[in-house]
Amino acid sequence: MNIQDVFAEYKQLTETRMKELLPSTEVYPGVIHDAMAYSLFAGGKRFRPTLCLAGCEAVGGKNEDCLDAACALECIHTYSLIHDDLPGMDDDDYRRGKLTNHKVYGVGMAILAGDALLTVAFELLAKMANGQNEKQLLQVIQEIAAASGTLGMIGGQVVDIKSENTEPTEELLKYIHTHKTGALITASVRVGGILGGATAEELQQLTIYGEKLGLAFQITDDILDVVGDEAKLGKPVGSDEKNHKATYPALFGLEQSRIMAKQAVDDAINAIDCFGEKAIKLKLLAQYLISRDV
Ligand code: IPE
Ligand code: IPE
Ligand code: MG
Ligand code: MG
Ligand code: MG
Repeated sequence: MNIQDVFAEYKQLTETRMKELLPSTEVYPGVIHDAMAYSLFAGGKRFRPTLCLAGCEAVGGKNEDCLDAACALECIHTYSLIHDDLPGMDDDDYRRGKLTNHKVYGVGMAILAGDALLTVAFELLAKMANGQNEKQLLQVIQEIAAASGTLGMIGGQVVDIKSENTEPTEELLKYIHTHKTGALITASVRVGGILGGATAEELQQLTIYGEKLGLAFQITDDILDVVGDEAKLGKPVGSDEKNHKATYPALFGLEQSRIMAKQAVDDAINAIDCFGEKAIKLKLLAQYLISRDV
């Protein structure tokens, strides 16, 4: 098994299911469903759904246990990208290899498409109730809401904006990264675990894995914003410099940032040692971060 197979398998599963779950572009008012689908199906690695499904597998769960939650996580992630690219935020023109949502549909419609993707995510989650999973599902809904909110992703985005044009401390930078990106990544793997029937101990190890992985993911995102290939990434490089963002390369330099990402990946892999072969996909996902170019 290699990482490309893991991504390919879960990407297909997630995209097929998202097409079934989301309103068709023919449903009135068509323009909003079109705007949502434009960004949702523009590409993307489907890293969060993949993590959710692999987390579920690691604790012995089945794909069906968490697939709709994996789709909901991707809807929330895509909403965060649409809003992150808006003129009032990072003001970027390309995402997932295409013009950003607001460039095609206008700022007003892009805001609404983001809002709608966030809202539909919770509708999908509530609809997962099947008479047996209510307790776990309530926990999942609460965790996804918290990870997306002011103590999670939104909190990270707030401090990201507030820290433009400043020299942050290491502590502040870590706050930004673990919140704007780490919170939803940690939630993704935990949600897979919870719906797959994880024990408290298993969930604790998945949490450490997710937190380390989330930090490593955003450090490598910062590195790619400096040295990445725009055509491969499908988004502009140099966006952070343009916006005078607080990033790992800006504070520590590229070489030290790579070392810090590698350390976080090693810590993530150590945390899931206890799962043995069942966590092979989680291990491959962590290793991928070290050499990712997309
Ligand atoms: C980009 O996320 C934004 C961050 C939170 C760092 P991804 O790198 O997962 O973007 P897609 O989903 O593949 O487009
Ligand atoms: C975005 O961080 C984090 C969220 C969208 C929540 P970035 O601004 O670094 O993401 P990219 O580089 O635009 O994808
Ligand atoms: Mg940003
Ligand atoms: Mg951005
Ligand atoms: Mg970035």
